[in-house]
Amino acid sequence: MLGEKIKKNYKSIVEKFEKKESALISLLYEIQKENNYISDGDISELSSLIDMPYSRIKSVLTFYTMFNQKKTGKYHIQVCRNLSCSMSGARNIINFIKENLKINEHEVSDDGLFSYTTVECLGACGSSPVVMINDTYYENMDEKKLRELIDKLRKE
Ligand code: FES
Repeated sequence: MLGEKIKKNYKSIVEKFEKKESALISLLYEIQKENNYISDGDISELSSLIDMPYSRIKSVLTFYTMFNQKKTGKYHIQVCRNLSCSMSGARNIINFIKENLKINEHEVSDDGLFSYTTVECLGACGSSPVVMINDTYYENMDEKKLRELIDKLRKE
């Protein structure tokens, strides 16, 4: 279900763009900010609000990996699985997450704090392996750094 903030603000977001199609990414971003993910119900509601076909919104949503279509933890970890990151240890990071947080891809840890997905290139190949936690990049990642980071996030 769409949050109150987006229901209140969607018109002002659409008005910033020449075509409403151009506002779609911004609208989806705002929806995700409120709930951490975008459900099929959210798409239906948005479709009615902005008079755009459900299929059009869904196709944009599924194209961009930055949008979550399933419930995530408070801290959602995206692990790049593309070539540079794979060659410099992405698999070790994925295994570390699975073993230490006891989750598989798209699952949420029992405490509700963490989830993870693997994604294509995050655009920082020169400092691979790279992970992104919510909106923050962490480059040259390894298991030790990730353990420290997770411990820190648990205390916040
Ligand atoms: S390959 Fe991982 S950031 Fe580009």
